[in-house]
Amino acid sequence: MMEVRGTPAALAFTVSCCMLLALLPVHIVANDNLRVAYQWKEIDFEFPSETERQEAIASKSYIAENVIPVGLEVYKKRLFLTLPRWKEGIPASLAYININETTTQSPRLHPYPSWSAHRRTSETEAPEIVSPFRIRADRCGRLWVLDTGVEELLGNTTVTSPTSLLVYDLHNDNLLRRYKFPADHLKENSFYANIAVEDNDCDDTYAYAADLGSPGLVVYSWKQQESWRVKHHYFHPDPLAGNYNITGINFQWDDGLFGIALKPQSDGYSTLYFHPLSSLNEFSVSTKVLRNQTYATESGNYHEFKILGSRGPNGQAGVAFVDQKTGVIFYALPNLNAITCWKTSNRAYTIKSLGRVYMSTVDMVFPNDVKVDDESNLWVLSDRLHQYMYESLNRNDVNFRVLTATVKDAIQNTACDTNIKPLPDIITNLGDILRPSTSTIAPKAGSSSAWPSPSHTNAIV
Ligand SMILES: *[C@@H]1O[C@H](CO)[C@@H](O)[C@H](O)[C@H]1NC(C)=O
Ligand SMILES: *[C@@H]1O[C@H](CO)[C@@H](O)[C@H](O)[C@H]1NC(C)=O
Ligand SMILES: *[C@@H]1O[C@H](CO)[C@@H](O)[C@H](O)[C@H]1NC(C)=O
Ligand SMILES: *[C@@H]1O[C@H](CO)[C@@H](O)[C@H](O)[C@H]1NC(C)=O
Repeated sequence: MMEVRGTPAALAFTVSCCMLLALLPVHIVANDNLRVAYQWKEIDFEFPSETERQEAIASKSYIAENVIPVGLEVYKKRLFLTLPRWKEGIPASLAYININETTTQSPRLHPYPSWSAHRRTSETEAPEIVSPFRIRADRCGRLWVLDTGVEELLGNTTVTSPTSLLVYDLHNDNLLRRYKFPADHLKENSFYANIAVEDNDCDDTYAYAADLGSPGLVVYSWKQQESWRVKHHYFHPDPLAGNYNITGINFQWDDGLFGIALKPQSDGYSTLYFHPLSSLNEFSVSTKVLRNQTYATESGNYHEFKILGSRGPNGQAGVAFVDQKTGVIFYALPNLNAITCWKTSNRAYTIKSLGRVYMSTVDMVFPNDVKVDDESNLWVLSDRLHQYMYESLNRNDVNFRVLTATVKDAIQNTACDTNIKPLPDIITNLGDILRPSTSTIAPKAGSSSAWPSPSHTNAIV
């Protein structure tokens, strides 16, 4: 981990830091407090009957090894998973389990809202839902499904329908609205894989969809039933941050805008925290800018977008989600097999102001979605996506996991713990002295060792 350990300054730091820590009442240890709630080797479904399962297998409309969960959402007692059509043989691309009725760790999934929503009624007719990557249940009881409309992304790629927003009523599972993205939102390489919903007003709700392929952000107004596409330099990938090395599989991605997370503010708008996938940096912008169609789409708004800081070597982040109660943002970091957090009230955004929530080369291999439900539980999905894409999953291994904990337990003793009083200035200053030397360590290509160990991260809270 710390290459600076051998230097006298660092040694001095270690000693003084630990002496000071010894005076603190809290015993600081690595947390990794999440527990595995569900896990699967392969995904199976509740078919109407065993005969229909066998028929689906025989006709290749269900190929178990091709099914991979990518997006997750929890609403009341239902846990939803998206199962994008990367390959053929995905019988339903959106499904759920009833948490209250599940007696096994590897439950079969129910299609959402029904089997028929995932079937073609004729050769030429697209199914109601084609291939969503991520979904969001708002506090008004609506499920927002961002459907890419693309089938067989890793094969004979077919655009079956234009990217659409489908909004379901979670009280009765009826489709409330279907909104097709207009043609000018769909650029060459456009791919909308992530959504955030600003739901402080159920009638005046806004949805934000991130285009990772042709970097851009679509703003959709529920009330006006229209959308506009926002561009900004900060939506673009950093060409120096495109290398990934996860469990020994090395690959390069140049994905742009991906992580989008909303934190409501007192002015009725929200802060949108955002980052491209292939980038180490975090940015923010007020939805006051984004919701004003005129202002959002003119170049004069450049300076409204702020850069917050960097997560440091291998700190590429996928999804992000802000817990509204604590104001803590959670990140999935695929290159580090980790979930980390940051207190949005923190002025500093550095590797040291981020807290380690969970890190594991077994349970957290490719964390792919993160949510907090309305009972303050954190939920994380890890799915070995890189192995699915570039090698193949081993059907004898546990490949997919849903991990959970209360937000309180997840952030306890991390830099995001809301109960820890600010440390005396002297420690902050010691951290400042060390910071330049840590940040100049060249990132070891593909190694997660540049990430501070838990004790180190926690020492700097
Ligand atoms: C479990 O939750 C679902 C969805 O909220 C509900 O429809 C069902 O009746 C519940 N089952 C039990 C046994 O409580
Ligand atoms: C693509 O389609 C062709 C012709 O239908 C078929 O032969 C081939 O196996 C398909 N490839 C994949 C990866 O599904
Ligand atoms: C939208 O932004 C423009 C500046 O481009 C401003 O003149 C206008 O008042 C704003 N509209 C609202 C509703 O805030
Ligand atoms: C990837 O990481 C592994 C260790 O997990 C290392 O042995 C390998 O050299 C790295 N590969 C690249 C291309 O960085």
